[in-house]
Amino acid sequence: MRQSKRVGVLTGGGDCPGLNAVISAIVKTAERDYDWEVIGFLDGYEGLIENRYVSLGLKDVSGIMALGGTILGSSNRANPFRFPVLQDEEYVYLDRSSQAVRNFEALGLEVLVAIGGDGTMAASAGMMEKGLPVIGVPKTIDNDLWGTDVTFGFDSALSVATEAIDRIHTTAQSHHRVMLVEVMGRYAGWVALGSGLAGGGDIILIPEIPYDIEAVCDRIKERNSRGKRFSIVVVGEGAKAIGGEMVVGHTVANSPDPIRLGGVSHQLAAQLEGLLNIECRVTILGHLLRGGSPTAFDRVLATRFGVEAMRQAVEGKSGEMMVLRGTDVTTIPIAEVAGKIRKVTADHPWVRTATSIGISLGYDSELPIEDAFE
Ligand code: F6P
Repeated sequence: MRQSKRVGVLTGGGDCPGLNAVISAIVKTAERDYDWEVIGFLDGYEGLIENRYVSLGLKDVSGIMALGGTILGSSNRANPFRFPVLQDEEYVYLDRSSQAVRNFEALGLEVLVAIGGDGTMAASAGMMEKGLPVIGVPKTIDNDLWGTDVTFGFDSALSVATEAIDRIHTTAQSHHRVMLVEVMGRYAGWVALGSGLAGGGDIILIPEIPYDIEAVCDRIKERNSRGKRFSIVVVGEGAKAIGGEMVVGHTVANSPDPIRLGGVSHQLAAQLEGLLNIECRVTILGHLLRGGSPTAFDRVLATRFGVEAMRQAVEGKSGEMMVLRGTDVTTIPIAEVAGKIRKVTADHPWVRTATSIGISLGYDSELPIEDAFE
C-alpha cells in the first residue's frame, strides 16, 4: 500500500537549458525533505493526456543538472483543449482535457508542476479551471514570460549568442564585411539586445522597434567613414522594417502558435548589399541557442524554482507560477500570466545602456526613443 504523497511534473513547449535542473531539484527535495514520490509525464501535456509517465527517484536525476534539454521530453503541440490526433491521414483537433484530469486523478497526484513558457501556462490556466491543481515554473530562452524579471534558459542562450558574435567579429574585420547574426526570441528582442550588448554589436534590431533601413545604412556608412570597414548587425528573428511584416520561416500546422519566425536577416542583407555595395554575410544561430549545458546562473535559478515549487506543493498551494523579482523567488497567479508576453520597453535600462555606448537600434536617432517603439 502506497503511503507517500505524489507530485506530477512535466516540461512543455520549446526546451531550454535548465529544465533538468528543475526536475532534479523537485525530485531531490520531494524525496529527501518530504518523502513524496515524483511522477514525470513524458513530452509535456501529451504524456498526461496519453498516460505516459515514469517514476522519478534520486538515481534518475543524479548528474542531470548540467545536462541541456529535458530527460522527460517536451512537445509544443500538446494543448489539451485542442489536441491533434491523426485520423485518415489528417489531423483533427479534440478536447482531451477531461482525459488529462482523469489520468491525474487515477495516479493519486496532489498537484502537477508544469515547467513551461506562455503556451504551457495558458494550457495550465485552462486545466486549473477544470479542477486540476497546477504550480507553474517559467522557462524560455526568449525571456518573454510575464511577471518574472527573468526566465532560466535566457542567460545560457545569451552566452552562446555572445560567443558567436565574438567569433563573427574577427572574420568580419578580416574581410571588411557587414555580418548579420540572427538570433531567436520570437516577438521579444531580449536575446538580440542582451547578446548584441555583450558581444559589441554595432546595430541591434529588435521586434519592438521597427527598423528604418536608412538609419541602418547611415550607421554602416558612418563607421566606414571612421575607418571601421566592417559592421556587426545583431537581428532578432522578429525584427521588421517600418511598415513591414515579420518574416515567417515556416508554419507548424498542429502547433498552438503555428508561426515560426526566421530569415529576416537574408532579406536585410540583400537590401544592404544593393544600397551600400558592401559584401554582407548572414549567420542564423537558431536552435544552437537552446542546446547545451546551462550557465551557473540558470542552474541556480532553475534549482531555486524547483525547490520552491516543491515547498508550495507540500503546503497544499497551487495556481501560482514561480517568479524572480530582484533576488527573491516569489509567485504570481498563473491566470495572470496566461496570454501575455513581456517585451522590451523604451524605459528598460538595457535600451539606454545600448544607445549610450553608441549602438544603433535601427531608428532615426533624432527621434525620441519612445517614438521608435511600436
Ligand atoms: O520559444 C523558444 C523558441 O526557441 C523561439 O525563440 C523560437 O522562435 C521558437 O522557439 C522555435 O520553435 P521550434 O523549436 O518549434 O522551431
